[in-house]
Amino acid sequence: MTTLIDFNDENSNTSPNPTFDSVLQARLSRRGLLRGSVGTVGTSLLGGLALAGCGGGDDDPAVTPAPAPTETLLGFSAVAKSMLDVVTVPAGYTASVLYALGDPLTAATPAYKNDGTDADFETRAGDHHDGMEWFGLGADGKPSAIAIASGLLAMNHEATTDEKLSSFFLHANGGTSTLPRPAAEVDKETAIHGVSVVEVKNTSGKWATVPASAFNFRLTALSTNIQINGPARGNALMVTKYSLDGTKARGTLNNCGTGKTPWGTFLTGEENWSGYFFRNATDDTVRNDKSVAALKRYGRNAAAASRHGWESAGTDDKYARWNISQGAGAASADYRNELNTFGYIVELDAYDKTKTARKRTALGRFAHESAAFGKPVAGQPLAVYMGDDSRGEYIYKFVSAASWAAADANPTDRVTTGDKYLDSGKLYVAKFNSDGKGDWVELSISNSAIAAYAGYKFADQADVLVNARLAADAVGATKMDRPEWCSTNVANGEIYFTLTNNSNRNVNASSSQQAPDSANPRVYTDTKNGTTAQNGNPNGHILRLKEAAAGNAALTFSWDVYVFGAESGADAGKVNLSSLTADQDFSSPDGLVFSPSTGIMWIQTDDGAYTDVTNCMMLASLPGTVGDGAKKTLAYTKTDGSALNVDTYVGKAPGADKLKRFLVGAKECEITGLCETPDGKAMFINIQHPGEGTKMADIADPAKYTSQWPSNAGYGAGKRPRSATIVITKNDGGRIGS
Ligand code: FEO
Ligand code: CA
Ligand code: CA
Repeated sequence: MTTLIDFNDENSNTSPNPTFDSVLQARLSRRGLLRGSVGTVGTSLLGGLALAGCGGGDDDPAVTPAPAPTETLLGFSAVAKSMLDVVTVPAGYTASVLYALGDPLTAATPAYKNDGTDADFETRAGDHHDGMEWFGLGADGKPSAIAIASGLLAMNHEATTDEKLSSFFLHANGGTSTLPRPAAEVDKETAIHGVSVVEVKNTSGKWATVPASAFNFRLTALSTNIQINGPARGNALMVTKYSLDGTKARGTLNNCGTGKTPWGTFLTGEENWSGYFFRNATDDTVRNDKSVAALKRYGRNAAAASRHGWESAGTDDKYARWNISQGAGAASADYRNELNTFGYIVELDAYDKTKTARKRTALGRFAHESAAFGKPVAGQPLAVYMGDDSRGEYIYKFVSAASWAAADANPTDRVTTGDKYLDSGKLYVAKFNSDGKGDWVELSISNSAIAAYAGYKFADQADVLVNARLAADAVGATKMDRPEWCSTNVANGEIYFTLTNNSNRNVNASSSQQAPDSANPRVYTDTKNGTTAQNGNPNGHILRLKEAAAGNAALTFSWDVYVFGAESGADAGKVNLSSLTADQDFSSPDGLVFSPSTGIMWIQTDDGAYTDVTNCMMLASLPGTVGDGAKKTLAYTKTDGSALNVDTYVGKAPGADKLKRFLVGAKECEITGLCETPDGKAMFINIQHPGEGTKMADIADPAKYTSQWPSNAGYGAGKRPRSATIVITKNDGGRIGS
């Protein structure tokens, strides 16, 4: 196995932006040298950055760029928009299906029949593959930051394709769409949620999973190997019949975005967990306390139907716990607090399934997406950036109490190292100001705006973290257009956030809507299929921020909009503000990952607006820096005739060498999750929920399925569409994105 990473094919000289690329190349070269000479240093993304001392673009003065560049980043031909039921990559690239819903994770698990009769999902790939991270394995089978031919993929299984309660592709006849749900169907549905870890290996140029690997494992919505950590551990808010002392949580749910820590563990974000639970119609009256306001703020109204009706399948606790109504006894006798045990960043050791996973309550409770670390600097605190994906929700930052010690990049006990950095610190929420600056506001019980908040009486700091949305309301945080993933620019440490869309953004905003503001400035109408009007900000945008001099611990930042999603033909003055061309146009950015190898920012879409023209896609980008564009004022007229002028800050329009479509997915899928081997030559991404628009009534007629991917790509028997991981390689052996 190759142990040195060769960056000699890096080309900095073909770009019209020499400053950016030469800085990047110097950094990559230095990283290559460090890795080659030291051996297993750090973990991939930020371990390397920390060693390179990457900062503002003027570092590494002694490093000479590598010679003989032969590669042009974004040198591939753009992929055209498409509505075909295939995954399309540029000429010269190959995409192969690697790991689909139901694939075995043990030698004893039978092959997936994909006809609705399969069971044992605790030993199979889950559904709706989402965020994903790479954990290398050396030839000795031990963790390795430089391994490129063998590793573990740790990934989220967010949800399942469903209609009227039932995950119909999992059941032979489509399942039961009325209450009560049969226990056997519910057992399958709870087991396809959560996380999987699967070993993958490159043998003679062909990637495959290792189904018999002892590394493989699942966490599901019922897993018991999970504990509550941080300030809310043992708090009265966490006491349930399952955990009388409030220290354990059962299962992880609706896992969406991911992160990888500088000490080599996997972070998974629990996103739309609230909708899986049910409350009796009388529960507000029975509770008659502040918990009603908290439940409503997290989207759980009394009597609202749960997503799958799991609470209806029986009296066993594994079903009963999905009904979170308050009973007549103590909190330890029922599941009234069960909702408080979901909504966290959960940390697990992908290399060691015997280690108990941790729900990190210090990072706050909301609809979590990815968790991105700012550049680790020895002796300084770590920062973790996070978004809350619902309309009008917020952007957060956690700053660790502990200062980063470089020796922790290779710890003997990884999750205990996580305890050190992620269990104590400060949680901040972002306020974006109209002058292009912003503030991080600490969510602390000692802040009088929180302590005296009229909307909810916080008991203690644990209550502030468990009900972070309410605390953020109290301090006047900026309501955003659905913050999805965030990622750190490997070239300069700036933080990028996708804001996927917001149908609630309105010039004449009512109390339940958001008026346009500087950071969320667009309000327009897009039409789908020529008729259906979509209002608000249907196409989304990508925001970026640059911390003040204090870096991770900074209390202020500057920001602008890197790029606005838009159809290339849309109004250039009001909608297509980034002048996107047909090779670049996109809608609803969601997944966002900077490649630690190439520095390319990969943008993935989960769209419902431009889908009359194209399936969801992935684009490659080489973004610039905060402030490389200009201020722009968008003028609106309200229905009462008054003017509403919004100042915003728009990055430089990305040219063809800076933003290009790389991939278009199968029908009705979203593109999500991205990780690479450290040499950048094998990329893994997820194709989630192809064919999600299929009608349950058509389950017996595969010809009526809206997608038959990946069966139609030659993968496995059966015609039911399946979420799957694919691996992308370049036919000439080069790096992905060149
Ligand atoms: Fe699961 Fe917000 O995407
Ligand atoms: Ca349209
Ligand atoms: Ca997402």
